[in-house]
Amino acid sequence: MIKICGMNKTYKGTDFEVKALKDITLTIEDGEFVAIMGESGCGKTTLLNCIGLMDTFDSGEYYLNDTAIHTLPKRKMDGIRKDNISFIFQHYELMRNYTIYENLEIPLLAKNTKRKERKKLILDYAKRLEIDELLTKYPYQISGGQQQRAAIVRAMVADNSVILADEPTGALDSRNSKEFMNHMLMLKELKKTIIMVTHDEKIARYSDRVIYLKDGEIIDS
Ligand SMILES: Nc1ncnc2c1ncn2[C@@H]1O[C@H](COP(=O)(O)OP(=O)(O)O)[C@@H](O)[C@H]1O
Ligand SMILES: [Mg+2]
Repeated sequence: MIKICGMNKTYKGTDFEVKALKDITLTIEDGEFVAIMGESGCGKTTLLNCIGLMDTFDSGEYYLNDTAIHTLPKRKMDGIRKDNISFIFQHYELMRNYTIYENLEIPLLAKNTKRKERKKLILDYAKRLEIDELLTKYPYQISGGQQQRAAIVRAMVADNSVILADEPTGALDSRNSKEFMNHMLMLKELKKTIIMVTHDEKIARYSDRVIYLKDGEIIDS
């Protein structure tokens, strides 16, 4: 479960100050699929990055699967993220100099999964999403839709409980977006907690619930 209470975050520079998150309070149950919507600049990515331990927040409480994140030092974040959270990005973020297979191995290597088990998991999920023929290719040798499928497989093999996706269909055409969302529903069947930022009402409809942000605040959920 994800439980956030009174989360605030301000970006400060020498000549600017942006209150990106204002008193965010929300609970997301295990296995829930939540969409986050709102105008550009309203704080969607900031919220997702704070939930994903990619960024720090200034105040408030954050419980991730009963771990009180706000009480822990920064150096613990990488380990907690690795064991709990997977990301799917708009631009796929596969490592360019690694084959698809090697990309899929990364989260498993981080968890010290044995070679044989890595191979089994990767082949199994790659077959399910029909990218098993692409495993020896490099990201730039396959289409955007295929790269995003590889990103989903990467999240599946990692087997983390929380999947965060920031505008995952932002670079896909409508056919590939629809296909991608059907694969996201496979992640839901695997009982993952999914939080997805999107601009697209059609895409948000796949979720169980929509949280609307405006100027760093939740206005509806
Ligand atoms: N690294 C940063 N430094 C300064 N301001 C930032 C930074 N990242 C985001 N912001 C500002 O914080 C606000 C929220 O940004 P963001 O979370 O990216 O919004 P969204 O994803 O909804 O478009 C915006 O006003 C943005 O300009
Ligand atoms: Mg954003």
